[in-house]
Amino acid sequence: MKRSQVAGCGGYLPARVMTNAELARTVDTSDEWIVQRTGIRERRIAAEGETTADLGQHAAEVALAKAGLSANDLDLLICATATPDETFPATATMIQARLGMTRGAAFDVQAVCSGFVYALAVADNFIKAGQANRVLVIGAETFSRILDWNDRSTCVLFGDGAGAVALEAKDVNGAADARGVLSTHLYSDGRHHDALYVDGGPSSTQTVGHLRMQGREVFRHAVTRMSEAIDDALDANDLTPGDIDWLVPHQANMRIIDAIGRRLNMPQERVVVTLDRHANTSAASIPLALYEAVEDGRITEGDLVVLEGMGGGFTWGSAVVRW
Ligand code: ACO
Repeated sequence: MKRSQVAGCGGYLPARVMTNAELARTVDTSDEWIVQRTGIRERRIAAEGETTADLGQHAAEVALAKAGLSANDLDLLICATATPDETFPATATMIQARLGMTRGAAFDVQAVCSGFVYALAVADNFIKAGQANRVLVIGAETFSRILDWNDRSTCVLFGDGAGAVALEAKDVNGAADARGVLSTHLYSDGRHHDALYVDGGPSSTQTVGHLRMQGREVFRHAVTRMSEAIDDALDANDLTPGDIDWLVPHQANMRIIDAIGRRLNMPQERVVVTLDRHANTSAASIPLALYEAVEDGRITEGDLVVLEGMGGGFTWGSAVVRW
């Protein structure tokens, strides 16, 4: 039996920091409101000309270096993004070319803020099926490009960034507690389109469009859906919340993260949070949080890590990884 083991993580954030105070100079908001309602203090914004592929490439290079792999060791490169450089080709193929990867396959996965969990599930299934042995999963976004900077109810929530995780197939001879991805769980319900969408696209308006959101509606579903996804993940592996060493949630709102943590009875220090500094980086938020927690020595080999996310669609999902 093959299992997808994490060989290395990477992350990249644009240099430019935008604080809440800076935003308050252009829209009717305040640092106090944003911190109280969301937990966000600042976010990174890509420089002019700096694209999703640029951010993804940097994160990918770090993950490959940490894994001790070169680009041509990869059989598959998946980029989760809702903000591709171009309508086509896939941002993944652009990153593939820049890394010098001339074999294997590359494609994008689009599940907005659940994108990383979706891409991880695809990668894991390729590995389990024996169709790939080494896969790089990237989450990369430049949400600053699709925000309506006059809409205070959305522009304060998001930031730009990229994270990446390199996976390697390992034969675990049926050992249930062996390292690697134990299970992934994906869900969607397309009836919720209007709660969170971008009002543009090549086939509808021929414009890029802006993000539109019914914040309360998203909030209400987020806690329930992500909690259910975690319950399913624990049940599938005969685990209880007490078995979780690290909860690495999608970083959308501190109140959502806290509510899910409380439901699981997770001590706050076991929940990885980057939201205060990164804001919501959509598909990049989970791999960026993983990268940070691995680099600072919190997540170590053998830890049980639970990932969960939810995004436009709605899409949502979870994954359990024995690190
Ligand atoms: N600054 C000041 N006031 C604001 C701001 C702002 N940035 N944004 C909204 N307000 C105002 C509203 O206009 C409203 O004013 P009114 O009462 O005079 O009409 C008031 O604050 C309350 O607005 P609500 O939308 O009810 O505020 P709420 O407490 O729900 O917080 C928020 C809004 C932060 C967007 C919250 O609903 C939320 O986080 N929802 C989840 C959305 C999310 O995370 N989306 C990310 C993508 S999906 C995902 O990743 C899970």
